[in-house]
Amino acid sequence: MDIVGKLMDDFLEGRACQVLCVLSCSIIMNRSDYNNVSILELITSLADAMDLINPSLNDHHRQVAYMAFRIGEQMNYTEKQLKRLVEAGLLHDIGALSLIRRLELLDIETYYANKHAVLSAEFLDGFSPMEDIVDVVRYHHVPWDYGEGDFFEGKKVDELSHVIHLADRIVVSIDKNQGILDQVPFIKDIIELQKDKIFVPEMVDAFMHISHKEYIWLDLINKAAMEMTNSNIMRRAIRLGLNDVIDFTRIIANIIDSQSPFTARHSVGVAKTAQKLAEIAGFSKKECQMMLIAGYVHDYGKLAVGPDILDKNGGLNQEELHVVRSHTYYTHRLLQGIRGFESINTWASLHHERLDGSGYPFHFTSENIPFGSRIMAVADIFTAISEIRPYRDAMSKEEVFEVIQSMVANGLICRKVTDILFENYDDVHKICMEAQEQLEFKKLVPST
Ligand SMILES: [Fe+2]
Ligand SMILES: [Fe+2]
Ligand SMILES: [Fe+2]
Ligand SMILES: [Fe+2]
Repeated sequence: MDIVGKLMDDFLEGRACQVLCVLSCSIIMNRSDYNNVSILELITSLADAMDLINPSLNDHHRQVAYMAFRIGEQMNYTEKQLKRLVEAGLLHDIGALSLIRRLELLDIETYYANKHAVLSAEFLDGFSPMEDIVDVVRYHHVPWDYGEGDFFEGKKVDELSHVIHLADRIVVSIDKNQGILDQVPFIKDIIELQKDKIFVPEMVDAFMHISHKEYIWLDLINKAAMEMTNSNIMRRAIRLGLNDVIDFTRIIANIIDSQSPFTARHSVGVAKTAQKLAEIAGFSKKECQMMLIAGYVHDYGKLAVGPDILDKNGGLNQEELHVVRSHTYYTHRLLQGIRGFESINTWASLHHERLDGSGYPFHFTSENIPFGSRIMAVADIFTAISEIRPYRDAMSKEEVFEVIQSMVANGLICRKVTDILFENYDDVHKICMEAQEQLEFKKLVPST
């Protein structure tokens, strides 16, 4: 088949990918595929997701990464060291997730300092592309203590940990209600007072050297500028193949699911179900792996929904419904910055769209909901109703059939996909349930 014929075939099959325009949400039909993705873009999305959990974090991870990068530059660090600083800065408080929901950042950094640093390191431990920042994160609250902080509990502390510590203290000293430049003398005084006691003297000197440059402070409160400044580092960052991305997005799935005991295995169930449905539908091996990734992150934006709503036993009021319905919008925005994730984003973030236009948040119709997104919608519904929820038991096969058939009859979801599901029900159900039962809860909900 020639290329045009192939594209037309993909289009008619509904598998042509859509790129959602940032401003207008208009659609450009564009066959897009997975390209190896930048590790920095992937972890930046996770740093942004933490802001959804507690908006008062206010770009904390990006800011620490940026300030650490600037201090590192002044220290004449190599590009490799700068990359490690940015990566560690973007993820340094990841282990404080359960605290972030309910505490102010300053309290977390002060009273739970080493505890959350260790939890953050454990979170990343075992993921090989991150192995060279695990210890940087682990020791990011060790005080310098006039040189004693070169070691902690008998282990050598990576000097980059001390840069992250300093950058972190600088950033948490910023009062977001005051003009940034007005605060510089005050912040410098705080840091100077702790030179040698808490912070490495040469690092404090490096900070003092750059602190008169207004653009650094202005960049710090300007998300777009922070991105641009790191763009060279971003461009040359390690790029991850599909298997590493699967491992990393499984961590993200665990973070999402750990927000509520009632959905504690949801994402992995959706991911495995969607992958199986795609396989039966004839997707290539690579596309099936992409579908697995899309399943892991399909509810990424649920981090914006608090546990009071997720765990509610009973119906939601209008206000709560609005919060819930925002989650696919945030999934879309969080994935948007990852180049190479275009198809994955489309499959993931359109899972609540309905063929008659009654879904959300884009209100697309059958004309522009691709087949991959239709698979995700069915996988999501199937998994959700097969799970126990606070207000009902898991549904039986007959009940699942009834619910899904009525949605097909009402023109909401794709018959082609539901036919695949019911023709292979026992297989798909087994895969979904086994994946959920096997899920290990290692470090998902750190105790506090
Ligand atoms: Fe911290
Ligand atoms: Fe921090
Ligand atoms: Fe959802
Ligand atoms: Fe879901």
